[in-house]
Amino acid sequence: MDKLKISGGVPLAGEIRISGAKNAALPILAATLLVDAPVKISNIPHLHDITTMIELLGCLGVYVMVDEKMNLEVDSRPLHSRTAPYDLVKTMRASILVLGPLLAKYGDANVSFPGGCAIGSRPVDLHLQGLRAMGADIDIDGGYIRASCRGRLQGAHILMDTVSVGGTENLLMAAALAEGQTIIENAAREPEVVDLADCLNAWGADVQGAGTATLVINGVPDLSGGDYQIMPDRIETGTYLAAAAATRGRVRLKDTDPHILESVLIKLEEAGAEIATGDDWISLDMQGRRPSAISLKTAPYPAFPTDMQAQLTAVNAVSEGVGAITETIFENRLIQAHELNRMGAKIDLEGNTAIVTGVETLKGAPVMASDLRASASLVIAGLVAEGETTVDRIYHIDRGYECIEEKLQQLGANIRRVPG
Ligand code: UD1
Repeated sequence: MDKLKISGGVPLAGEIRISGAKNAALPILAATLLVDAPVKISNIPHLHDITTMIELLGCLGVYVMVDEKMNLEVDSRPLHSRTAPYDLVKTMRASILVLGPLLAKYGDANVSFPGGCAIGSRPVDLHLQGLRAMGADIDIDGGYIRASCRGRLQGAHILMDTVSVGGTENLLMAAALAEGQTIIENAAREPEVVDLADCLNAWGADVQGAGTATLVINGVPDLSGGDYQIMPDRIETGTYLAAAAATRGRVRLKDTDPHILESVLIKLEEAGAEIATGDDWISLDMQGRRPSAISLKTAPYPAFPTDMQAQLTAVNAVSEGVGAITETIFENRLIQAHELNRMGAKIDLEGNTAIVTGVETLKGAPVMASDLRASASLVIAGLVAEGETTVDRIYHIDRGYECIEEKLQQLGANIRRVPG
């Protein structure tokens, strides 16, 4: 297993490009199952999770052609299977996103029931409730969700009692081909949901209200396809900004979108960063200063994203002062605190809050990645720490960060990948 070796203490400086958003690309790839023609998708990030989704589509019989720039041409017409097998679903929970499209397009689907994961139990009850409201029969049998419907799914009025990104996306895709109108209330407002809605509309769907809590979808009999470009990755953007803030550096990120990460920019400014933005770039300058401690609470968009919580905890670890980081979305998502403490951080966990007392610097150590964003926080800590940090189990990082060591090297970091 590969590891990342980091010699810390260098303030990040320079410019890099931000990749396409993993969490937008995954549902959009699943949505290709709804379309009756080949579609072209660009700005797909080269990541392990994307490869898993392409593999899943491949095993359903979908034809996927990838060029050297990760532009994809996808044709779902040769589909010959409607089963998402355990082996793939267990490696990536987002595989559940094929359930809605398969059911809406073909009238049945078998999708392995996704299990828990490092950050919590992560149920799929809201996905299933919504599909049932649209007329689906759903049984859980032998570890599989077996769903079917007679004729087309029927439009329905759905109130989601928790804001769920994946749940909203699954139901949105199903509703695109349902008969009649579907209204989804308390829908997720995340930019990736908006990107999916924009993509579906570009392919011939009728989705209104994306980016608000109420989605109105007028079902159409078929989608005719077209080209689509995936939005920039706001979490990758935020991660590099956090890394620059922690190392007292100065960076410029291009091909991104400052409008989709306002809550993160506000917190970084509170930490003392000077932020400037343009249409598709963001720059951050700490002017060599140590960050000030900040407090935050994660919540659904537009509030502070849970996917940026671990990285800001790492910034707080080397800040001046004491900050409280409260996680409200996933029950077990402060796990990085233990590894950060092994590097000299002072983090006390009290329920779902991490009380972080900033220290002047961290000490390099061997540490272990436990989930995608927690791993990013360890890399940030390694970039700040005195001496060498080795981050083990970096397959978690490769699920969500394209060429992380190359991008950090471009910003001047001493980081390299070594075979385990
Ligand atoms: C997506 C993102 C993930 C991010 C999360 C929250 C993708 C591929 N992943 O995950 O990076 O951390 O949103 O922003 O886009 N819940 C239920 N029942 C359900 C579904 C969810 O109770 O049927 C709960 C979850 O346990 C969690 C909360 O709702 O507490 C939010 O989860 P959800 O928004 O669904 O997360 P994902 O879509 O899995």
